[in-house]
Amino acid sequence: MDRPVTPARPHHKLTEDGRRMREVLSYSRRGSRFTPRQAEAWAAHHEKWVIPDEAVDRPGFALADWFGREAPLVVEIGSGVGEATAALAATRPAHDVLAFEVWRPGVADTLWKLAEAGASNVRLCGVDAVWSMEHLLGEGQVEELWTFFPDPWRKTRHHKRRLVDAAFARLAASRLRPGGLWRLATDWADYAEQMQEVLGAEPGLEGGVIERWGERPVTRFERKGIEAGRAITDLCYRRR
Ligand SMILES: C[S@@+](CC[C@H](N)C(=O)[O-])C[C@H]1O[C@@H](n2cnc3c(N)ncnc32)[C@H](O)[C@@H]1O
Repeated sequence: MDRPVTPARPHHKLTEDGRRMREVLSYSRRGSRFTPRQAEAWAAHHEKWVIPDEAVDRPGFALADWFGREAPLVVEIGSGVGEATAALAATRPAHDVLAFEVWRPGVADTLWKLAEAGASNVRLCGVDAVWSMEHLLGEGQVEELWTFFPDPWRKTRHHKRRLVDAAFARLAASRLRPGGLWRLATDWADYAEQMQEVLGAEPGLEGGVIERWGERPVTRFERKGIEAGRAITDLCYRRR
């Protein structure tokens, strides 16, 4: 999809008097320093797999240019260190997989896994996925959406930062094609409840809790949840 104008992305929005605008985002900025292994992965592979942040500001930004083809699109939000991304993308060579992750060391770790898995159908993007879903993706463009173990934002005063809320559900439903799937997983019971509540109330979606999706690899955050004794909930919704 070609885009004629470039709306300001998060961290680039200014108030009228030039101060940085306060924004409610689903992530906090964590350290971006690389370990030597991450630096090596970045140097070796970023040109092939990473879409530079500034690229999305350019008028005419088109995903197909970055994938080098037009193919059904899978979007993952919060790919972490890329365990699910690499394994699932490698079994879907006919799909393009666009993985959003704002934490650069995680993106660097993902690069090793993509190289090992030979997943040439993945592109990684470090720009806020909510902004990107709204401004870079068109209605009905997404075949499947994955949000595995989104940040739980456990304190009540932080719940407004949770990725899966009513506004995002509306946006995600609009980006999915009819029949397209949104797969989610969480290890936090109250977030699983919130997901069922807001996705159940979204008229464009139908679905609910499912058995663990067998294809989904165990990720770092799933392991943490299991080790802490938390139950894992998988959910799947279909765009009506
Ligand atoms: C709890 S971790 C889960 C990572 C991985 N899915 C797993 O299961 O191990 C959530 C990740 O989502 C990323 N994230 C949160 N909000 C995001 C956003 N709006 N855009 C891109 N990445 C985001 C965070 O940086 C973090 O790495």
